[in-house]
Amino acid sequence: MRYSRIIGTGSYLPEKIVTNDDLSKTLDTDDEWIQSRTGIRQRHIAAPEQETSDLALMASQRALASAGLAADDIDLIVVATTTPDMLFPSTACILQDKLGIHNGSAAFDVQAVCSGFIFALATADRMVASGMAKNALVVGAEVMSRILDWNHRNTCVLFGDGAGALVLQASETPGILSAHLHSEGQHRHILNAPGQIRDGRIHGSPYIHMDGGAVFRFAVRVLAESTLEALAHNGLQPADIDWLVPHQANARIMDATAKKLGVPPEKVIHTVSGQANTSAASIPLAIDYGARHGCFKPGQLLALAAVGAGFSWGASLVRWG
Ligand code: ACO
Repeated sequence: MRYSRIIGTGSYLPEKIVTNDDLSKTLDTDDEWIQSRTGIRQRHIAAPEQETSDLALMASQRALASAGLAADDIDLIVVATTTPDMLFPSTACILQDKLGIHNGSAAFDVQAVCSGFIFALATADRMVASGMAKNALVVGAEVMSRILDWNHRNTCVLFGDGAGALVLQASETPGILSAHLHSEGQHRHILNAPGQIRDGRIHGSPYIHMDGGAVFRFAVRVLAESTLEALAHNGLQPADIDWLVPHQANARIMDATAKKLGVPPEKVIHTVSGQANTSAASIPLAIDYGARHGCFKPGQLLALAAVGAGFSWGASLVRWG
């Protein structure tokens, strides 16, 4: 087998919905400001007892059902998350146990913030294609609500909680065509949660800090650049894209990226309005949305592109079906 391909998708959004109007009751903000700047109408927020691994579990069970596999068929779990259940062990190991998988196969986390799912997918794809695993569960799961300062309107309105999962299987035909990953750590100051654990305490802020304008400019540039890099690598053009599935940070970033690429709005999967930015979960949530709404047809080309703190970014091309 030289490739991997997606054989199942699933997602989960917590029950509790917080609308922009709900936020405006405790914050100096309003629906018009948030929608016009970001396209976000509402976000889902995990219940206090729900951990990242619980969201991941629901998404994974749905992905397994859609793939027609049992949990024990999975021999690799890669979870992308910025908000792990605990410092260690990995959320992937906790998920493996919650799924009832006790076959000794590998499970580990990948941390690349909002681009984490692209990094996790690339890792799992190469492990499956090389024969290290046969059926991989690739998950993006986040409880971003836990690292937001809910008194800080510049950041807290932007994020939400959720999880998405894909099942990858070894295949003679592609599947995942290629992945192109990048990081530039010198830009780590424009978006971070800088708190450090030392002497049993958190030193510095545990909340998200962001220079919104700098993030916006960086995101639009690299989402388009990495998508073009992936297309060129495969001898393809922007016109060959059937569906652009960008990280769902903000509608204006997605619109500007699609415009730069010349991809018409009707070919862009758009879930940010109902989910806000779910960081590493946003791309698998968007893929599951597209799959369940019958958007993707066999043979169609999906372009996935994500960017996040680090800065880290990347793109991957997928042949559907
Ligand atoms: N409600 C009302 N007013 C607000 C809010 C809010 N929620 N947030 C900020 N403001 C105010 C600011 O305080 C500022 O007021 P001031 O001029 O009195 O200081 C004013 O609105 C304008 O602020 P700007 O930052 O200039 O607004 P801008 O039009 O740039 O939009 C935004 C801000 C939405 C954050 C934009 O910069 C953006 O989308 N950046 C990208 C950030 C992003 O998507 N981050 C997600 C994480 S990164 C990732 O996933 C890639």
